[in-house]
Amino acid sequence: MKRTSRIPGFYKLPIIERVKIVKEFAELTDEEVSALLNTGSLPLDLADRMIENVIGVFHLPFAVATNFLINGKDYLVPMVIEEPSVVAAASNAAKMVRAGGGFKAETTPPVMIGQIQLTNVKDPVEAKEQILSEKEKILEIANEQDPILVKLGGGAKDVEVRIIDTIKGPMVIVHLLVDVRDAMGANAVNTMAEAVAPYIEKITGGKVYLRIVSNLAVKRLARAECVVPKEVLGGEDVVEGILYAYAFAKADPYRAATHNKGIMNGVIAVALATGNDTRALEAGAHAYAAITGRYLPLSTWEMTEKGDLRGFLEMPMAVGIVGGATRVNPLAKIALKILGVKTASELAQVMVSVGLANNLAALKALATEGIQKGHMKLHARNLAIAVGATGELIDLVAERMIKEGKIRMERAREILEELKRKMKAS
Ligand code: MEV
Repeated sequence: MKRTSRIPGFYKLPIIERVKIVKEFAELTDEEVSALLNTGSLPLDLADRMIENVIGVFHLPFAVATNFLINGKDYLVPMVIEEPSVVAAASNAAKMVRAGGGFKAETTPPVMIGQIQLTNVKDPVEAKEQILSEKEKILEIANEQDPILVKLGGGAKDVEVRIIDTIKGPMVIVHLLVDVRDAMGANAVNTMAEAVAPYIEKITGGKVYLRIVSNLAVKRLARAECVVPKEVLGGEDVVEGILYAYAFAKADPYRAATHNKGIMNGVIAVALATGNDTRALEAGAHAYAAITGRYLPLSTWEMTEKGDLRGFLEMPMAVGIVGGATRVNPLAKIALKILGVKTASELAQVMVSVGLANNLAALKALATEGIQKGHMKLHARNLAIAVGATGELIDLVAERMIKEGKIRMERAREILEELKRKMKAS
């Protein structure tokens, strides 16, 4: 069988059939399949070692988005999310992008920034010079902390110094640039920043307070691009509508925040599935969106000469495939296996493509029929479940509410009671 993520009708299959397809696609073992199907896959004792004061395990749905073709490679993309429509939207958009040749994605080297806050120096400019003239020694101290990372080709690579004005006077901010290879990198960077701080104090006579990674990871960017033929989108009008949506977001931070939220729907769902730090990604994305001093959309949309739609997304993407929860949570390990990514940079390329896909799907829906139609179907099912419908009753209650155009909790309850009465009577 050709290994493809283009699987028509995947969403209509029973869960067990979907899992069979994913098993074959990713060569999962029987144990991995059982872990996917078992809602108790994160054992309590493991959970208890991940964070403090554990009293249970919290579950979320785990899905795969289909149709993703990125740099010529097919991916089934694991997504963990509570919001209906996001997985369907990503899969739909990826199908449209596939018709235009798929996503092209790339990343910068995986370089994170560690910040060392130096205060109480007599002359900040002189301190800056002292630090830069000791760059080699600072890098040496940093790299002594992580010989394995250095052996893998990573490690501290450079030192930059900024002087900033603050409410407590001028500060000298040292940036330690660390290639963290396949890790998210916060731990490695924080260790190095703490290790070099005493030496920086010694050569400058100042006092260091903070030593911590920056989540504004401007040296670790991921980029994705796609072209969608206008016929696939539904015609010139849809292209025009999406360009209007983009113009709106570019001019208005109220809209840009929501535009970027649509991007993060995809990015964060993959981050959760792979055990990555979602808060670091959110912080980095929104700070990057405001880096010009004005909050802007992270993606750009334009029309090609042929009248097709071209989209581009660039954002910081501090993700890892080693360390942290990625290797502790058994489901995160399986998610990485399903993805088949070999490096953190490849994972970042997938995530930025998914972000662009979710953005495209949202803009297309918003510029045409609106998002409520699709949302409401799933919302109706959720309401049915919330009022106690089970099995086939879920769809029966949901379909009735959609037909009536009344998708509300009280109505779901009434319909459920009526259906139950009828079933009893027959
Ligand atoms: C909903 O989760 C995301 C959207 O609001 C994104 C957008 O408006 O672009 C639909």
